[in-house]
Amino acid sequence: MNIRPATAESIAEGAKILRAGGLVAFPTETVYGLGGDATQGKTVARIFEAKGRPAFNPLIVHVADISWVADLAETEGRFEKLARAFWPGPLTLVLRRRAGCPASELVSAGLDSIAVRMPNHPVALELLRGAQRPLAAPSANASGTVSPTLAAHVATSLGDKVDLIIDGGPCPVGLESAVLDLTQSTAMILRSGVITAEDIARVIGPIDIAREDPAAPKSPGQLASHYAPSLPIRLNATIAAAGEALLGFGATARATLNLSPGGDLKEAAVNLFAMMHALDEPQKFTAIVVAPIPATGIGIAINDRLERAAAPRV
Ligand code: TXA
Ligand code: MG
Repeated sequence: MNIRPATAESIAEGAKILRAGGLVAFPTETVYGLGGDATQGKTVARIFEAKGRPAFNPLIVHVADISWVADLAETEGRFEKLARAFWPGPLTLVLRRRAGCPASELVSAGLDSIAVRMPNHPVALELLRGAQRPLAAPSANASGTVSPTLAAHVATSLGDKVDLIIDGGPCPVGLESAVLDLTQSTAMILRSGVITAEDIARVIGPIDIAREDPAAPKSPGQLASHYAPSLPIRLNATIAAAGEALLGFGATARATLNLSPGGDLKEAAVNLFAMMHALDEPQKFTAIVVAPIPATGIGIAINDRLERAAAPRV
């Protein structure tokens, strides 16, 4: 397995691999991404294959600068305002594909839209600038499993399916970007994140939040079961039975691990996936039970991930 610490040399090697059509896992501020050149169809197909990702679920295209989006998508007023307010950062914007968009149709999974984001992580940005290509990058884990916030998580989940894993340490935000659809007259949140609906509404006015309709999900990626560890999960627990791991928040008594002893939601977001990975030990525990997390602000995104992790699996 090819895993190297992030240095100028390893990032330059990563950029070279990407230009040649290979796959490179790299850190972003949210989670590790499994990157490939978005303009090479074969490469994008390899990303789907490596993750075992359903072909109907489109990928986010990462850029090093706002100016890169002009080639890919129809930019409009709300895009400019939001990108200026939140980029680089954990907000993905879904736009209409531009005629002649150089990104493979596969990244859009057949839709006429394309999701773009500029990550706020020095390694991701240096890699993008080195490759000089927009990078398709889903989270670097097998489809449906807990997202990776450490290079070791990527190695365990994808291993040799990746040409290079660049280790840039733990991801400082820990939850995937919020996904906002700008293709309709009313902007709509498809996936919640640490940039909240209130944050976005302050910049572009009132927005909608996608209602879950399992029969017709608006965001193809928002499957009910997702982020699932191998152990069963139970939510809103205050005590654990013998053999269960208790993931606490705030003043939880006898927690096995605590997302934030001081009750800070931002800290809980950073720790969520790493602690789910750490407790996912079937030889040691029978289930992971999670203390209640307030459903306000960033807590909305945390509860979204937890509910999907606990959802019945297919
Ligand atoms: O923080 C993140 O966004 C991370 C890092 C690596 O950037 N990436 C990530 O990618 O979480 P992924 O593939 O795990 O999630 C992408 C989400 C999915 O829910 C997908 O359905 C949605 O974005 N998406 C992508 N393109 C879309 C489009 N054209 N229309 C609607 N939803 C889209
Ligand atoms: Mg994912």
